Amino acid sequence: MIDKEPIILAIESSCDDTSVAVLKGFKVLSNCVHNQEIHRTFGGVVPEMASRAHIQSIVPTVLAALKNSKVEFSHLEGIAVTQGPGLLGSLLVGHSLAKSLSLALSIPLINVNHIEGHMLSCFLIETNVQEDSGLEFPYLCLTVSGGHTQIVIVKNWNYFEVLGQTLDDSVGEAFDKSAKLLSLDYPGGPLIDRHAKYGNPDRFAFSKTRMNGVNFSFSGIKTNILQTMQKERNINPNTLKNDLEDWCASIQKSLIAPLVLNTKKAIFSTGIKRLAIAGGVSANSFLRDEITTLAIKENIEFYIPPLSYTMDNAAMIGAVGQFSMRNGAYDDISSSAQARITSDKWKYSDI
Ligand code: KG4
Ligand code: ZN
Repeated sequence: MIDKEPIILAIESSCDDTSVAVLKGFKVLSNCVHNQEIHRTFGGVVPEMASRAHIQSIVPTVLAALKNSKVEFSHLEGIAVTQGPGLLGSLLVGHSLAKSLSLALSIPLINVNHIEGHMLSCFLIETNVQEDSGLEFPYLCLTVSGGHTQIVIVKNWNYFEVLGQTLDDSVGEAFDKSAKLLSLDYPGGPLIDRHAKYGNPDRFAFSKTRMNGVNFSFSGIKTNILQTMQKERNINPNTLKNDLEDWCASIQKSLIAPLVLNTKKAIFSTGIKRLAIAGGVSANSFLRDEITTLAIKENIEFYIPPLSYTMDNAAMIGAVGQFSMRNGAYDDISSSAQARITSDKWKYSDI
């Protein structure tokens, strides 16, 4: 770590988790995440409740992040904050606080695109690690979250070429909706992962959706999972409970397969030999194993963020913030949160 690297505060409040991190360079000095348990009862995020919960938790989370990092307000040199995409009410809470801090402390404001945060999360390093991540541009990134499923060439910290993406549901949504059918709590992805470890992935088979290039579609598989469950229940009424582990393993296998297949296609068609995975679903143990096997077989340099930087977190917002600090790319105090973001930093091209 270079001693003169800037210390920044990063804030993420795009959905249902309030998160604040302190970074020196790419080293994460603290990364506090306050999970909003309230949504579990509803089986999904309730936007109005999420914004109210952010208002309650944001200041305590900022204070906790500073305390854990032993950094004081006066040490901060910049504030990075998620500008979007996400739930507008939730984004506004974090963004307004970031603007207030930027004004009060006279330090630059840096607006960050949440997805760019996920894609650059592999640059982050833990406090106890001395060397940097070793990751360099360009690299391929498989971004798999509750809102996105994309394969992107990360050409630089501010230049992204999307090669393919989902045309309907994200893979995270498909995990969560399948989990709901199995009466598992929200978010269901981690629970499917846990139960799948003890199940037979070949017990139930679901239809595959064939897509052009490296695009994805999960709505067909999702419907087919429901139909297969209904058919099976006619024969075996308690199957969802009694065969839970086999259902989880089979669902997980069918949702992860297109991710691995398209990643392989993208490696072959671009010739890029450096790969990262990011986003909440990159915590999935089966995906991690499959991608690791692929990377070893194809002799690919492979980067995978530590588990704490896969689900939504402020440290990844800080990673983008650090690139912005290095390049003097600051934002105006009159800027605002945006539920959707279009940017000329993003280019779309099918392969
Ligand atoms: O990146 P993230 O925290 O939030 C968004 O930006 O959307 O991703 C959340 C998604 C949820 O759908 C959650 O079920 C899924 O990531 N997820 C997982 C696992 N951990 C989180 N899906 C499958 N296996 C996991 N271990
Ligand atoms: Zn996310």
